[in-house]
Amino acid sequence: MSQDLIYRPRRLRRTEALRQLVQETHLRVQDLIYPLFVMEGENQRQEVESMPGCYRYTLDLLLKEVEEAANLGIPAVALFPVVPEEKKDPTGRESFNPEGLIQRAVRRIKQEIPEILVVTDVALDPYNSDGHDGIVRDGVILNDETVEVLVKQALSQAEAGTDVVAPSDMMDGRVGAIREALDEQGYTEVAILAYSAKYASAFYGPFRDALGSAPKWGDKKTYQMDPANAREALREVELDEAEGADMVMVKPALAYLDIIYRVKEATDLPVAAYNVSGEYAMIKAAEQKGWIDGKKVMMESLLAMKRAGADMILTYFAKEVALLLKQSY
Ligand code: PBG
Repeated sequence: MSQDLIYRPRRLRRTEALRQLVQETHLRVQDLIYPLFVMEGENQRQEVESMPGCYRYTLDLLLKEVEEAANLGIPAVALFPVVPEEKKDPTGRESFNPEGLIQRAVRRIKQEIPEILVVTDVALDPYNSDGHDGIVRDGVILNDETVEVLVKQALSQAEAGTDVVAPSDMMDGRVGAIREALDEQGYTEVAILAYSAKYASAFYGPFRDALGSAPKWGDKKTYQMDPANAREALREVELDEAEGADMVMVKPALAYLDIIYRVKEATDLPVAAYNVSGEYAMIKAAEQKGWIDGKKVMMESLLAMKRAGADMILTYFAKEVALLLKQSY
């Protein structure tokens, strides 16, 4: 006995060809930004224990990795430095050293692989002896004093040749201050990708292992956002947009798909999502235990971020995704 149905949505799911025609969202290699960790030394790479398949590279090997990424069609890399403890101080002065690790890395990449876009992080946590994104006095993270240093950091990255500066520090007013300084110095072409809605998240744990950048005391709740809040994310985006951000970011991604969706509705700027280290680690760990199909969960998660509204995704899976997408064509 067949039911008397006019609409049968299953008709469009019947064959692979039909499913392809009606697919609404696509994950493409062109959507990906590949975050990479760089350390001092030569001819070495160290796997990050909590991020299997992710390494800290010395500059010579980093160049090889970036070249591979470029050859796979990945359009951009985001760089994060492992700063030796002896170079850290309370004000993070190493962050604007013209001969600093990041500045050297940017110069070499732009010389040797100029076609790949370089994104550099603006924040003090890898450089600051307190492990905080800003300067600390009497247990308080100072906003305006920190912004002054962030401006110097962004300028020194621009001077080294970065394409995009990405303030991830969550200080108030830093986007406007950085834009003004860049323009004054003639770096009008350097874009700002603002970490606008960045939450105080436990999903950053493995990243802090990778860089040795965990806060030495306390947490980041006086500057990063409360995971309970959504409207506040829109306020942050609105401010960064008014201050001159070219692109905005939501971070983390998977537990914040509603925020990605709401931000996308609220702004005309391109929206990035950061598929953070803890999200990567969970998939890798469950895959290693044989509990999930890691590749499928990876693709499904990243597709969900696109569906929520992300135009681009920062992900440690970038190379794996690029290889997988290549195979399926
Ligand atoms: C630092 C920064 C962090 C991440 C990117 N930039 C860590 C933090 O805020 O503590 C996290 C990225 C990840 O977990 O993959 N400003």
